[in-house]
Amino acid sequence: MDPTFWRERWQNKDIGFHQPDIHALLQMNWPRLGTASGSKVFVPLCGKSLDMVWLAEQGHHVVGAELSEIAIDEFFAERGLKPQVRGAGNFVVKSAGPYELWCGDIFELPPDAVAGVAGVYDRAALVAFPPDTQERYADKLKELLSAAAPVLLVTLDYDAERMTGPPFSVPRAQVDRLFAESHAITELECRDALDLNPRFRQRGLFALNEYAYLLSGRN
Ligand SMILES: C[S@@+](CC[C@H](N)C(=O)[O-])C[C@H]1O[C@@H](n2cnc3c(N)ncnc32)[C@H](O)[C@@H]1O
Repeated sequence: MDPTFWRERWQNKDIGFHQPDIHALLQMNWPRLGTASGSKVFVPLCGKSLDMVWLAEQGHHVVGAELSEIAIDEFFAERGLKPQVRGAGNFVVKSAGPYELWCGDIFELPPDAVAGVAGVYDRAALVAFPPDTQERYADKLKELLSAAAPVLLVTLDYDAERMTGPPFSVPRAQVDRLFAESHAITELECRDALDLNPRFRQRGLFALNEYAYLLSGRN
């Protein structure tokens, strides 16, 4: 999607993707990554997700990347935090407490932003990109991250003929196409997500499954 699309969604408070609770699939499955408390974790396309708060509560230092400055400012304001601000190339970096959020386009994120990252949480990031951009995003993650950093990937799978994304449907075959060469892929969970997300019923879906995968880098 065009960056303007997302910036406008934040400007217009059109953020149906933002969840008021910690994501259940994160809480249930994060321990499977074995990422040590105290280590740095990366949340691509982080929005103002409360999942970052949960990760910080597990003792992690959280690095996020997000296009919208509104999202980042709201995240800090909602925690009562006043971030320090610095520039880094095309990015504005805001940090406070256990959070360091890089504001800019993830495709321009420099590797030093995620140096030492020991685990990754992708919810509503891969699925935010149309199919023809997903490979570019997966390649960027692989370029940025050490193979030793496992990824908890949460995707959606639905009949793409019935709804146009975002979020885009990412069937298992696409996960395999993007990651099987570089990662071992373990399906951790599959749940019916339509009742949890009734807005997708209004957009034409009769079925919606949410998957959690563990991606373990092949060294
Ligand atoms: C569907 S939302 C998901 C946000 C968050 N992961 C969550 O679970 O609430 C996708 C987010 O990615 C951001 N985004 C989209 N394209 C981006 C890009 N190229 N670089 C950085 N952030 C991007 C959008 O502004 C939006 O906040």
